[in-house]
Amino acid sequence: MIFNCMKTFNNLVVQQDGQAAIVTINRAAKLNALNRETLQELREILELLEQDDSVRGILLTGAGEKAFAAGADIEEFVGMSVGDATQMAQYGHMHIMDRIQNFGKPIIAAVNGFALGGGLELAMACHIRIASESAKFGLPEVSLGIIPGYGGTQRLPQLVGRGKALEMIMTGEIIGSAEALRWGLVNDVVPAEELIATCLELLATIFTRSKQAVANAIQAVQVGLDNPKTGQQREIELFGESFGTVDGKEGVQAFLGKRKPNF
Ligand code: COA
Repeated sequence: MIFNCMKTFNNLVVQQDGQAAIVTINRAAKLNALNRETLQELREILELLEQDDSVRGILLTGAGEKAFAAGADIEEFVGMSVGDATQMAQYGHMHIMDRIQNFGKPIIAAVNGFALGGGLELAMACHIRIASESAKFGLPEVSLGIIPGYGGTQRLPQLVGRGKALEMIMTGEIIGSAEALRWGLVNDVVPAEELIATCLELLATIFTRSKQAVANAIQAVQVGLDNPKTGQQREIELFGESFGTVDGKEGVQAFLGKRKPNF
């Protein structure tokens, strides 16, 4: 089991809670801004947790009371060339955001404060977002003379629709959690002191279901969002395949036997 001999990170804290891994971005003094090293460490932890069979899901949050993540680290933008910036966006898409989106285990963002720019893009890449009442959301890039580069222009319209997404992106305004809930940007809003427990409860419910079926559901939804026609076909294939799995047989037998499935 990798989890018990986990390496330590400079910018992340990783804790175990049963079958859940709690990954906390730990740069509170910089509002958990996503610098290069933090992104590399996120990439590394995703790889470790994906391979670790004792981990069935991830809760991702930010250290301190103020921020989930206040965006990419603006200090690193100084002197950045067109090539460097393109490479940075490419890296973030490929190794972090797409990886999270397609991760075969549920990842819940516990948004405990500011989720701005890359921080909001990180939360949007997660499968589910639960926010504290004091959380704040925005894509302020246009006020820096740039645009979102970690998938914001693509995932925000999927979550809130084109009109609201463009309003948020073009104004760069920050919205509160009540508005984020109304727009569909977050799944739920809870008091700050209940945030982590709420996310862990949600994960615990998912953990009682079939691991493989959950992974396949994530895949079918995501393939469909990327390309609806391919998504339908993938759903048909994965639905069929599930009848050949141990879990598929066990789930049906358990229902008919009026007992809980043993997944
Ligand atoms: N990159 C680098 N550093 C950041 C940062 C970011 N995205 N966001 C915050 N910080 C740093 C600040 O520079 C400050 O560092 P310092 O204490 O060494 O000066 C520290 O975090 C605290 O932030 P501060 O601005 O003092 O807090 P605040 O409560 O006054 O304001 C925000 C909070 C979120 C409104 C403000 O920090 C902000 O606008 N951040 C940038 C958000 C952004 O544009 N993100 C998109 C980037 S593409």
